Amino acid sequence: KLIYVLNGPNLNLLGKRQPEIYGHETLADVEERMRKKAATLDLTIEFFQSNYEGAIVEKIHEAREKADGIIINPAAYTHTSVAILDALNAFDNPVVELHISNVHKREAFRHHSFVSARAEAVMAGFGTLGYELALEYFK
Ligand code: DQA
Repeated sequence: KLIYVLNGPNLNLLGKRQPEIYGHETLADVEERMRKKAATLDLTIEFFQSNYEGAIVEKIHEAREKADGIIINPAAYTHTSVAILDALNAFDNPVVELHISNVHKREAFRHHSFVSARAEAVMAGFGTLGYELALEYFK
């Protein structure tokens, strides 16, 4: 199985950005750990990050033909993007929404997610460990 792992805006700064909330691990560290974990589960991952909403929408379009599932951390677009929700609604395989932090413990504007209306499962607050745990869902 091929799983697309999609990361939204500012996650390129993971490890440097508000480490008290998001931890010290970089996105490259997360990718490396996921690749190792995926291999043990007989899964392959396509790892992607963009700060641009349209680029994420287009990657989801690409996933329509290629991916058996999507793990997505839409970051700030979680709370704003009908376009990403619509793109995910055009994708037929399972979707896991992931947040490093527990968004429900934070500001009220982070409590609503457009993507949750489409996701089979939602993870929040597991830190970067969540990315590996989410892979288990697809096994
Ligand atoms: C986030 C939570 C979002 O509210 C925030 O905008 C992010 C990261 C998380 O992984 O905890 O950029 O998705």
